[in-house]
Amino acid sequence: MSPTMSRPDSVVVEVPATTANLGPGFDCLGLALDFHNIVELELSAVTEVEITGEGHGQLPLGPGNLVLRAAEQVANEVGVQVPGWRLDQHNDIPLARGLGSSSAAIVGGLVAANELLQAGLDKDRLLQLAAQIEGHPDNVAPALYGGLTACAVDEDEVFCIRLNAPEGLAIGVAIPNFEVSTEEARAILPEQVPFDDAVFNTTRAVCTMAALVGRKWEVLGAMMDDRLHQPYRMPLIPGMAEVIEAAREAGAYGAALSGSGPSVVAFAQEKNNEIIEAMVQAFRRFNVEAVAFWTCASNEGAVIAEPETEQ
Ligand code: HSE
Repeated sequence: MSPTMSRPDSVVVEVPATTANLGPGFDCLGLALDFHNIVELELSAVTEVEITGEGHGQLPLGPGNLVLRAAEQVANEVGVQVPGWRLDQHNDIPLARGLGSSSAAIVGGLVAANELLQAGLDKDRLLQLAAQIEGHPDNVAPALYGGLTACAVDEDEVFCIRLNAPEGLAIGVAIPNFEVSTEEARAILPEQVPFDDAVFNTTRAVCTMAALVGRKWEVLGAMMDDRLHQPYRMPLIPGMAEVIEAAREAGAYGAALSGSGPSVVAFAQEKNNEIIEAMVQAFRRFNVEAVAFWTCASNEGAVIAEPETEQ
């Protein structure tokens, strides 16, 4: 902790939802979305946690809380012993739906504790810590940096390239009323895939990124196809392929499973409700109720909202 800097009493951090993979970019591509969780953190004699919104009554209020685990990681990193934390979480990101709720918790905890303890960790170090806790970097990177991110892990090091998010692209999100744990959705993946499938995905992942950045959105439909994870996850998500197809037929440029699901995201020229209604109807044909809404990409990652400094 730097003795020259005054420590804030309380730190408020706003962290965006994210969608990862974008179809073929498994464990690589990610995009920040325009809805958020808010983390308010203070030092305290004992640990107290309050959660409102998504996860209320469900998320742990003790040391198992992901925001606190991340905050502790920062304290350990700089060798500070914290007696306890006072944490208020307000969550708009639904849990276990493939929209980055755990990444938002981790990044919120890291960024808030870094500021609160004046730990001085730079964003790259925070990314490394976040990816270690989460186990893969493609949600934590856009949650931290905002925008459109491409990540790769080399040995234990995460490399991340952040680009501005495509402006003017409408993003429809259909969220089914059941959870899929990322652990389960990863356990179902094969250990090996055919060479053809690897080529199919590498070519499409590069083209998806190029199409997003180069505003060639009309090719997203074909380029967002995937053979590495979506087909294997179909048994966990009734109607997934049909929802993606319904979005495209209703006019979306492209659609994909969001992260490890079960939500599906669709990319469109405008917020045409026929697209998200078609997605909801397609889920319903598989006896799955879903809610759907429009959002957009966000260039802002985790932001410290209201720092209060000691006098
Ligand atoms: N790339 C990760 C996966 C994202 O698909 O398992 C998890 O949300």
